Amino acid sequence: MSRALALITGASSGIGVAYARQLADDHDFVLVARRADRLAEVADELRKAGAAVEVLPADLGTREGLDAVTERLFIGDVRLLISNAGVGGYAPLAEVDPAEIGSLITLNAGASIQLTRAALPGMLDAGEGGTITVASLLAFTAGIADPRMPPRTLYTAAKAATVAFTRTLALELADTGVRAQVVCPGVVATEFNGGYARDLPFAMTPEGVAQASLAGLKLGETVCVPGLEDQEAALDALLSAETALMGGNAPIPAGRYRQS
Ligand SMILES: NC(=O)c1ccc[n+]([C@@H]2O[C@H](COP(=O)([O-])OP(=O)(O)OC[C@H]3O[C@@H](n4cnc5c(N)ncnc54)[C@H](OP(=O)(O)O)[C@@H]3O)[C@@H](O)[C@H]2O)c1
Repeated sequence: MSRALALITGASSGIGVAYARQLADDHDFVLVARRADRLAEVADELRKAGAAVEVLPADLGTREGLDAVTERLFIGDVRLLISNAGVGGYAPLAEVDPAEIGSLITLNAGASIQLTRAALPGMLDAGEGGTITVASLLAFTAGIADPRMPPRTLYTAAKAATVAFTRTLALELADTGVRAQVVCPGVVATEFNGGYARDLPFAMTPEGVAQASLAGLKLGETVCVPGLEDQEAALDALLSAETALMGGNAPIPAGRYRQS
């Protein structure tokens, strides 16, 4: 059986490990995260399942870490890029350390964009491949005032950027044989955010997220919301709202701005 090469970021725990396990029958791997010891454990498990594994420890919130993974992708042999590394960093904006804004945005948004750019030429040359970016349902909550949700200005902005990036990229990639998908899970029982969701009865398992995403990729889904039954209707409504807003592309200000 031929094996494709997958590069997975955030492969030391949670959803990243779930992807790797579900792909191990027919993929080799480059595994990326900061904790080299945890990556080594995952690599051992995957090798026992028959996969060849490279371990590439890197901090994707830094220029050096991002450059190291970008260089690896420029080789051009990766056929599936899973940009999954991320942190919550939940806090009201006024309480965020200004020095941490850059690395949070880089990790949660910029990294997946830069890595996708690096992976694409090899996939386009081969006429096949896929990119998956793990965003969050919080990407769609910018206008929702719900006290049960965490303070999330930066997280929502970054994850929404990856949703917009992927949806637009998917249009660019039509008819190339290369697919782009963004995954938007709700609450997932992982180590994320201090492991807060591990005991929540309504949390999805990381295995459920990976299963939905990989099945969705085969179905050709650009946006995958793992827990949503009627995804098509919701995405149609989103597209309708976007199309309505484009009505604002007009030569004069709208009537309400011309009253006085
Ligand atoms: N759990 C949820 O409720 C939930 C919901 C929606 C979306 N998500 C998204 O799902 C993705 C995976 O999270 P998870 O739930 O599986 O949580 P997790 O178990 O905490 O996994 C996060 C992964 O990202 C890696 N990572 C964090 N900071 C990094 C950095 N600076 N450089 C490189 N790797 C880094 C971590 O590895 P190291 O610590 O070893 O670097 C770990 O492998 C994230 O993008 C998250 O935003 C999670």
